[in-house]
Amino acid sequence: MSRVVVKVPTKITIAGEHAVVYGVPAVAAAIPRFILITMSLRSDNRIVVETQGLYARLSRVALDRSSDSVESLASEDDARRALSYVTTALRLCEEFLGVGERGYDVYIESDLPASIGLGTSAAISVGTIAGCLKLRGGDPEEYRVRVAELGWRTELEVQGAASPMDTFTTALGGIRYIDPGAGSVDRIATWIAPAKPIPLVVGYTPRRGTTAELVAKVRRLRSSAPQLFDRVMEVIGDIANAIRRAIEVGDLELLGRLVTVNHGLLEALGVVDREHSLIIHSLLEAGALGAKTSGAGSGGAFLAIAPSADKAGEIAIVAKGLGATVVATGIYPRGFSVEGQRPRPRPRSSLS
Ligand code: PMV
Repeated sequence: MSRVVVKVPTKITIAGEHAVVYGVPAVAAAIPRFILITMSLRSDNRIVVETQGLYARLSRVALDRSSDSVESLASEDDARRALSYVTTALRLCEEFLGVGERGYDVYIESDLPASIGLGTSAAISVGTIAGCLKLRGGDPEEYRVRVAELGWRTELEVQGAASPMDTFTTALGGIRYIDPGAGSVDRIATWIAPAKPIPLVVGYTPRRGTTAELVAKVRRLRSSAPQLFDRVMEVIGDIANAIRRAIEVGDLELLGRLVTVNHGLLEALGVVDREHSLIIHSLLEAGALGAKTSGAGSGGAFLAIAPSADKAGEIAIVAKGLGATVVATGIYPRGFSVEGQRPRPRPRSSLS
């Protein structure tokens, strides 16, 4: 196999972000917006990453694995940060397969910007591992749960703290009940079968702060009153459990109500900005059954549950009128897929 293309969905969090970091369950779902990763082996020992649509200034970055030197038009720190998910994922894949270090060309296309709470970094980690497995003789479809686990380990190494939610949801797809305390990786992300389609509106606004910074902010808040905030986290876990049941029986009204209560608790954790508060209230007034910030917060992604697909269209128009970008109105049932070869994109700069 000389070149592979991996298509990975991004995701939303229906319930339980932040609390899931403390071990309580969460519910997340893949959405039909994708990261496409085209990978091939190089004859030298360099990792050359080219991106399209993710970062404003970092479209092409290279790392020489022998000398650990970075080539980029941006600052070295920015370049290393942009490379970190890919280089860590490649190393973990090679260690998993027990094969030696190689050089890779990695071309990442995204129609969503990075760091808005829709799981782009998880999708990059998962996609890089799946592509590496395929190139180096493994079968990523057979090892789907291991791909999710290695993606999670990538996020843990790069970010310092991460739950398995984003990587398992983007790797496995559909709606997932995430139980970080399940004990075995096979039971971390259980598929939730919806009794009926869930009309959704997913959008985002610009975000201030990274996931790692927002997780650290919540950790500081929690340490100011651990017993009280542990109870808040527990209630968020209870909401995730109730949301799972509401989805399984097709009770959209209850689902909406619970989603909005989860949003209130994110407000209590201090991760909802003024713009999101306004958007959430406006979407509820426009007829949404429920709405919440989705992901680490401080802007970024949000979602609304609509009573019908038609109403979802109306709610999307309201969200756009408030300055948000709407990216999806449904759930994607599958996880990553490894596709056939595509023509290699032409390099756009002299770093090759
Ligand atoms: O990176 P985001 O915005 O999708 O947020 C991830 C969700 C958190 O619960 C805040 C962190 C985690 O690792 O689960």
